[in-house]
Amino acid sequence: MLENKRILLIVAGGIAAVKVPDLIRRLRERGASVRCVVTKGGAQFVTPLTLAALSGDKVYQDLFSLTDESEMGHIRLSREADVLLVAPATADIMAKMATGQADDLATTALLATDKPVMIAPSMNAMMWTHPATQANLLTLQNRGVRVVGPGAGDLACGEVGDGRMAEVPELIAALTQFFQKTQDRGPLTGKHAIVTSGPTHEPIDGVRYIANRSSGKQGHAIAAALADLGATVTLVSGPTAEPAPPGVTVRKIETAAQMLKACQAALPADIAVCAAAVADWKVEGAGASKIKKGKAPPELKLSENPDILATLAAAGPARPKLVIGFAAETDDLIDNAKAKRAAKKCDWIVANDVSPASGALGGDSNTVHLVTAEGVESWPTLKKRAVAERLAERIATFAEKNL
Ligand code: C5P
Repeated sequence: MLENKRILLIVAGGIAAVKVPDLIRRLRERGASVRCVVTKGGAQFVTPLTLAALSGDKVYQDLFSLTDESEMGHIRLSREADVLLVAPATADIMAKMATGQADDLATTALLATDKPVMIAPSMNAMMWTHPATQANLLTLQNRGVRVVGPGAGDLACGEVGDGRMAEVPELIAALTQFFQKTQDRGPLTGKHAIVTSGPTHEPIDGVRYIANRSSGKQGHAIAAALADLGATVTLVSGPTAEPAPPGVTVRKIETAAQMLKACQAALPADIAVCAAAVADWKVEGAGASKIKKGKAPPELKLSENPDILATLAAAGPARPKLVIGFAAETDDLIDNAKAKRAAKKCDWIVANDVSPASGALGGDSNTVHLVTAEGVESWPTLKKRAVAERLAERIATFAEKNL
């Protein structure tokens, strides 16, 4: 799997850099070519000469090297690779990557690349668990950076805990798995999925709106999971803080009417997953001017919004073959979900308990039941990402037989 793969190995300044010579050897044994960029800190732990000898290539260190820039340039360096692996990835380089700093060759290459990036964090346990590092980690993961390790154990600083860089076999396995996944054409290749996500905002006037508490986490995770299985995904999203999943086309909208229009414009599709929490009502005659605060509060006249799920499920010949809705309920979950499936004429309903005790709204986990024509399947409480992966797998199984 690693045969002829080009790996740009970025070595940052951590004690785990001592594992890098062995890593290079093992990668080359498997037919990969390794080109190293080493930071100033990295060169304190492993000499550029060692890296050059083992990789059989020049080692790149200097952003302003006249010869390197004229021969190669940091942009080409970052793109003439199949993957960039940062090992060890220190807290410092992770912070720089998260904030887009580019003050040396390594960080500049990481910012300039259009290739997948993998990091192998390595640091003291307190540094690893620090909220700053964890926030940076999340930012990087949300941008599609793959993370290997770290493991727990004795650390070079004498402390014990999380922060040991993944061992060489683990790094080899992660790279192998990565190339396996990108070579496999996923089971949903060639299928188009529309996913709605997030809340809608219905204006009251030029500055105020009606909304709900949907975070968009579940819908965005579903879009990402479908794309991971090879689907072409159009994500129609209301205002959320969620980043766009890698490889997904995002259509940003605010109101239910705009969401419907964007979904219809995205047709034809094979699959529609309506995970958005669409506002049920809009305010009649909402204008651009701010309503002034007077003696009596204004009387808002509400009218019903279009039902996007029901509209897509009734789209005649343009109807996606598999239409999936959500039923977020606080009471009588399954009965309500079954009734919703019948009323909206969709194929599946993902029923989820959103009672305050469930913590589903805005939280990271979800307890769902899949309601289909065949019956009800109850899933254990899972992270929203895992719910999305499981749903995407189910969709792929359906697609295999029916799409
Ligand atoms: O009727 P209710 O809002 O509970 O139905 C939930 C399901 O219907 C979700 O899949 C949601 O995305 C979808 N829906 C929609 N358009 C609406 C209201 C709900 O697509 N206007």
